[in-house]
Amino acid sequence: MRKSHFSLYLMACLCFVLFSCASEAPKDKSPLTGQANKGITAKTKAANIARILASDTKDVNGKKVYNISCLLCHGKNGDQKANNAMDLTTSTLDLEQRIDVIAHGRKLMTPFSDKLQDEEIKAVAEYVATLRK
Ligand code: HEC
Repeated sequence: MRKSHFSLYLMACLCFVLFSCASEAPKDKSPLTGQANKGITAKTKAANIARILASDTKDVNGKKVYNISCLLCHGKNGDQKANNAMDLTTSTLDLEQRIDVIAHGRKLMTPFSDKLQDEEIKAVAEYVATLRK
């Protein structure tokens, strides 16, 4: 009898913990609309870019990051242009500008600063330049 009361009590605690966690889901991270970067200031952007530029990419495979996160719109060779994506084979942006677009998004391109690590953003920004013709 006592034992079963105890396990009921435990279950109740567990449920309470689970529910309180679920209700604290972050509201500002909508990957589809880029809400995470809405209203981001130029100062924050500049700080993000500087931090990403300074990150160490030695343990990251930029191609792998590209194939997981960018293929959908830009395609394997960078020229797919799905969802109005720009052709990366003819892009002329420098590394800093590419990092800006990747981290903060542009039009239908979603921002990746909340999905990828700094070094992943830098590595994939370096990788896309290799897709140029
Ligand atoms: C949801 C579709 C989508 C995904 C996923 C996506 N992009 Fe884009 N990308 C776009 C669109 C759309 C543009 C053009 C934005 C514009 O017109 O201003 C763009 C533009 C760019 C540009 C700027 C090119 C230029 O010359 O101005 C770069 C660089 C880029 N994407 C890299 C990436 C990388 C790297 C990834 C993966 C981490 C990625 N994109 C994922 C849609 C996407």
